[in-house]
Amino acid sequence: MEALEFRENYIDVDTYLKLRASVGWKKLTRKQARAALDGSLYTVGLYVAGQPVGMGRLVGDGAVICYIQDLIVHPNAQGMGVGHMLMKRLIACARSLTEDGTEMMLDLMCAKGREEFYKEHGFLARPTEDLGPGMIRYLDKRNAGSGSKEETAAVGGGSL
Ligand SMILES: CC(C)(COP(=O)(O)OP(=O)(O)OC[C@H]1O[C@@H](n2cnc3c(N)ncnc32)[C@H](O)[C@@H]1OP(=O)(O)O)[C@@H](O)C(=O)NCCC(=O)NCCS
Repeated sequence: MEALEFRENYIDVDTYLKLRASVGWKKLTRKQARAALDGSLYTVGLYVAGQPVGMGRLVGDGAVICYIQDLIVHPNAQGMGVGHMLMKRLIACARSLTEDGTEMMLDLMCAKGREEFYKEHGFLARPTEDLGPGMIRYLDKRNAGSGSKEETAAVGGGSL
């Protein structure tokens, strides 16, 4: 691959929305996208010849818990090691935030079928014998004001 460039804390709303769309993830409003990027502890994008081909971001408190979110590689660039390179950057950032002498929990939501990819980076799939499952609740206000049910508890879902 030619002219690879990592850009840290640089990703703009359009790039973020386009990368999400390229892998078929649910649409965000621009306001949501802006808030997500602004609220990130760290973002990393990988650009090839100036074009964005992948990204990832870190959210959390940077002391006790962080989450890896929106790890995305454009379909045209998948399977070439970009995902692994982004993961290394994200983990290195989380490690750099971890205070000496303490332990921080680094979490992520694994898309279906990607377990092996994350296991290569030292992640453990829950539930285990000692740990319960991760749990999720979507707070749904898409139809707020129309008289429909405001929130729906849901498990799973195909897009992150
Ligand atoms: C998952 C993803 C980030 C991996 O990035 P990538 O650049 O394609 O991955 P890499 O080339 O660095 O690594 C490829 C490895 O991941 C595995 N992999 C990649 N895409 C996969 C897929 N669709 N299903 C299962 N495994 C996959 C390969 O088996 C390979 O394993 P290896 O390292 O043992 O050879 C990328 O496929 C992607 O953006 N997918 C759509 C969005 C998504 O699901 N993101 C993850 C959310 S949890």
